[in-house]
Amino acid sequence: MEFKIKTDDPAALASRCLVAGVFDAKKPELTPSGARLDRASKNRLRAALERSGMRGALGETEMLCDLPGIKAERVLLVGLGAARDFHAAAARRAAGEAAALLNKRGIRSADFCLLDAAYAGKNARDATSARRRARHLVEACADALYRFDQTKSGAKRPAKLARISLLCGRDQQTEAARGAREGAAVARGVALARDLANLPGNICTPSYLAKQAKQLARRHALKSRILNEADMKRLGMGALLSVSRGSREPAKLIVLEYHGGKRGAPPVALVGKGLTFDAGGISLKPAAAMDEMKYDMCGGASVLGALQAAAELRLKLNIVGLVPSSENLPDGAANKPGDIVTSMSGTTIEILNTDAEGRLILCDALTYAERYKPAAVVDIATLTGACAIALGDQASGLFSDNDALAAELLAAGEASGDRAWRMPVWSEYDRQLRSPFADIANIGGRYAGAVTAACFLRRFTEKFDWAHLDVAGTAWASGAKKGATGRPVGLLVEFLLGRA
Ligand code: BES
Ligand code: MN
Ligand code: ZN
Repeated sequence: MEFKIKTDDPAALASRCLVAGVFDAKKPELTPSGARLDRASKNRLRAALERSGMRGALGETEMLCDLPGIKAERVLLVGLGAARDFHAAAARRAAGEAAALLNKRGIRSADFCLLDAAYAGKNARDATSARRRARHLVEACADALYRFDQTKSGAKRPAKLARISLLCGRDQQTEAARGAREGAAVARGVALARDLANLPGNICTPSYLAKQAKQLARRHALKSRILNEADMKRLGMGALLSVSRGSREPAKLIVLEYHGGKRGAPPVALVGKGLTFDAGGISLKPAAAMDEMKYDMCGGASVLGALQAAAELRLKLNIVGLVPSSENLPDGAANKPGDIVTSMSGTTIEILNTDAEGRLILCDALTYAERYKPAAVVDIATLTGACAIALGDQASGLFSDNDALAAELLAAGEASGDRAWRMPVWSEYDRQLRSPFADIANIGGRYAGAVTAACFLRRFTEKFDWAHLDVAGTAWASGAKKGATGRPVGLLVEFLLGRA
């Protein structure tokens, strides 16, 4: 996929297809470049809008061909929805629908005239920022054209639509080019996360993930270190090791360091859950949709994707990526309900449900993060079904007792269109984790499951500023469009850009 910025007059541009936006209003409303095309074609765009009945609903499309006065072969009108609701997530959806349709029609190159549609909202600078909007357009197009065919036999069929340009005014050119470059880096990070996540558990094992991390490190001059089970034992990571005991695949703790900031400046640490398959262990999951538990490493994959993007963009920031990786399977050696393990921090944990394993591998990785004296730690995990029940596929759950860090991450979510929603981690919930035998139990009962999981993690984060993203509802889609989404790479890169 190749992205370019052009400042041509859309009416005079030789193009296979121009893409122009239409806002949903009483009368559908063309954006300025759409209006320019309408004038050049003696009002054929408006006439087509009237005849076709297109209203401008978000994602609606209408293809027009051979318009007089316009050099392009086609004009694709795409609905942007109501102007007052037009923000990052809507812009992505519109651009994605357009790209998907062009690709389906076999059109190889297109010129998007969508940078003239400003975002609604309180933040005027964001609304008019060509950089941000160019980034979103590029990300959305790449996302819409993503295919996963590694595990199909036969010839690979790359997307037909291979060249996209963004048209903008001369005054926007520098900013738009910068945004497009950022968008392409984010898109490659998202694609990396999606690829790793879509691979099945028998291919993408902890060792495979570790190998991919090492290759990533080599490509981008990151420092990498893979801790094996003997290393973990030496460090006293009894919680992490206990999860992997029921598996024949050895656990790995992936450590990646990106040094883009001042020498010695405290890094941001990203900690991602890397369960390459979660059968639940002895507390075995039901059979239905269990295949989707190959996605239980999406948090870890998002850490690799975000680090790759940060390295490509040469962000002036130090970042550490930690991915504890294991399988969770039933076996004679597996954790049993009632077992008590000792974490690296010394906290003893009563395992009342072996399916609450994510927090067990994460707690030792969080303790390990202490050695970096991090400026902030963000963990990302497909941690609880309860979070997916609460927020569905729109927002990731954000948990933090640090208001400033929470606000920063929420804002990054809004700005990137990869949204999160804050949930409480009040200490009042801690009592649900009491155990008669150990310092803490690994489950907190039926109610507020996403919250008590976060409260469990918080016990291991006293030494740094911390936030937790539960991506159980957002990291992959089920049903007909089953597949990894690459979320929250967009949010994470936005957050890192803000810190750099
Ligand atoms: N990986 C799952 C969480 C999950 C389940 C994400 C379904 C998305 C869809 C996690 O390891 C898990 O099994 N959590 C349990 C916790 C419970 C035992 C307290 C859950 O959510 O049921
Ligand atoms: Mn589980
Ligand atoms: Zn899990």
